[in-house]
Amino acid sequence: MENNSNQLSVHDTSHITYESLMEGNRKFVEETLAEDPEFFKKLANGQTPPVLWIGCADSRVPADRITHTNPGEIFVHRNIANVVVHTDLNLLSVLDYAVNVLKVKHVIVVGHYGCGGVQAAMGNKEFGLIDNWLRAIKDVYQKHTDELNAITDEKKKFDRMVEFNVIEGVNNLCKTTIVQGAWARNQELHVHGWVYALDSGLITDLKANASNSSQMDSIYKFEK
Ligand code: CO
Repeated sequence: MENNSNQLSVHDTSHITYESLMEGNRKFVEETLAEDPEFFKKLANGQTPPVLWIGCADSRVPADRITHTNPGEIFVHRNIANVVVHTDLNLLSVLDYAVNVLKVKHVIVVGHYGCGGVQAAMGNKEFGLIDNWLRAIKDVYQKHTDELNAITDEKKKFDRMVEFNVIEGVNNLCKTTIVQGAWARNQELHVHGWVYALDSGLITDLKANASNSSQMDSIYKFEK
């Protein structure tokens, strides 16, 4: 196919097959054992990851690879567009286990620029079932309409929306009974918001941090 500069250059995945994944696994084991013969024996004994990662399901944003970490070091939850909503039993279960059993010290919501889920939520095209999931992102848009509508550059507006989706994800995490419970017990727990740039590989800290409930609107606070 003729290369069109207006088209996104997409990474070639034609060499990835069902069989190649198994071959890849054997290579992974071989290389890992060459570096540390005890690696899997040690990991099999349990996990003590200090971080919970809540990221997008996008194949281009693998939590461990982009942070140069290994198996056993990051507990991961991923969904389309790294949405944090208080009715998601899957996310709440992961969060509960991470905070109350694994005792992670950091929970990080990680969005990424160019997120297809966020982009879809910013438009009016109907995609089907997923529109019900993306609805939470439309609520983020609605909350920040004034600032977003003031941005005339579409790319900048999209980027800002990705950031707002992360910031609201952090806010929603703080409001959960799980995070508030940890803070009420004086358990060390920091919540952060990051954005990953697909075109540079770099992560930006949005400084949307919280380590206690002092910044939270009083209606969301539980009294212990
Ligand atoms: Co995404």
